[in-house]
Amino acid sequence: MKKTYLITGCAGFIGTNFVYYMLKKHEDILLVNLDKLTYAGNLENLKDVEKDPRHVFVQGDICDKELVKNLIDQYDPDYVINFAAESHVDRSIYNPEVFVATNVMGTVNLLQRCKEAWYDAEKHIWKEGKKFLQVSTDEVYGALGAEGYFMESTPLNPHSPYSASKTSADNFVKAFHDTYGMPINITRCSNNYGPYQFPEKLIPLMINNARHHKNLPVYGDGMQVRDWLYVEDHCKAIDMVSASGKSGEIYNVGGHNEKPNIFIIKTIISELHERLKDEGISETLIQHVTDRLGHDRRYGIDPSKIKADLGWYPETPFEKGIILTIDWYLTHEEWMNRITSGDYQKYYDTMYQNR
Ligand SMILES: NC(=O)c1ccc[n+]([C@@H]2O[C@H](COP(=O)([O-])OP(=O)(O)OC[C@H]3O[C@@H](n4cnc5c(N)ncnc54)[C@H](O)[C@@H]3O)[C@@H](O)[C@H]2O)c1
Repeated sequence: MKKTYLITGCAGFIGTNFVYYMLKKHEDILLVNLDKLTYAGNLENLKDVEKDPRHVFVQGDICDKELVKNLIDQYDPDYVINFAAESHVDRSIYNPEVFVATNVMGTVNLLQRCKEAWYDAEKHIWKEGKKFLQVSTDEVYGALGAEGYFMESTPLNPHSPYSASKTSADNFVKAFHDTYGMPINITRCSNNYGPYQFPEKLIPLMINNARHHKNLPVYGDGMQVRDWLYVEDHCKAIDMVSASGKSGEIYNVGGHNEKPNIFIIKTIISELHERLKDEGISETLIQHVTDRLGHDRRYGIDPSKIKADLGWYPETPFEKGIILTIDWYLTHEEWMNRITSGDYQKYYDTMYQNR
């Protein structure tokens, strides 16, 4: 049976990968993609599906009540999956308000509009087959010491304005389930890496800088440990949770790939050095800079629940994923140049403004 999805923020990194993953995996599907196209949204990412009738792009804000209502009325989605967010921790430290607006208020707007469309308050019944899925992060749990893992039951203890806003959104999603019985799921994933990631984030930043013999800025001692997951494995998890996750449940998503940042950077240097046979790419480019304020030391996900309940498992080991990722950025130099020069923002105007 054909399923319709309202997906938000899918001109960004994970959302773009999700669009490609879903269109490849499911023949009979409609993806309605609502994205504001902030600096992090790049419509050029989706040019390969421009003519695919199974993907409809709508530029707009998840905070826009009327627009979200109209989209739900028009397309009657089975699933609403909320990827849209301000996602960069450093930016949240300097401008927390926009994180509250999009990550909290935007999520509440989506919840409210879904409730209006799906809920009969008098009879206290929800339309069959509807679900809201919130794409969240392991950062809501705070930081770990050397031992242990984040479980779904780990108390929420966010530290950055970014993670505080994501925690608040998660709490609202859970509250809509607890208060009104809304069918929901929340996924909390570890750090993703792969194609189409905006080059302010660690891996594409380091690849791009190293290639051009620029300094590689490393926060503090570089020993902050993150649990890295290849983005396609995250997309697979979201697909499985939307289709089969039990309503009200939270699922942690991670691949037990814990690596310190400095290890990632040294791996990128040695792979690029080897591939490009470039003597200028070496560890001398590493430059330790003042650590990020409130920088969490270690994240580590326990993914046993999603494995046991839904049969999800990560298919791409880090050793393979990092090579796929480096190769993608090496073969998409034009994409990187257009992002770093800001030219990608003109693409929307060229393609859509005068239609
Ligand atoms: N990147 C990771 O490692 C990671 C890990 C776990 C969870 N997440 C979560 O996954 C989601 C996607 O992350 P990402 O890395 O792809 O982010 P991203 O920054 O690459 O993309 C975010 C997208 O949301 C859009 N957007 C921002 N504000 C909007 C608004 N008000 N209305 C509509 N669209 C808006 C942007 O234009 C952009 O296309 C986020 O919710 C993030 O918290 C990310």
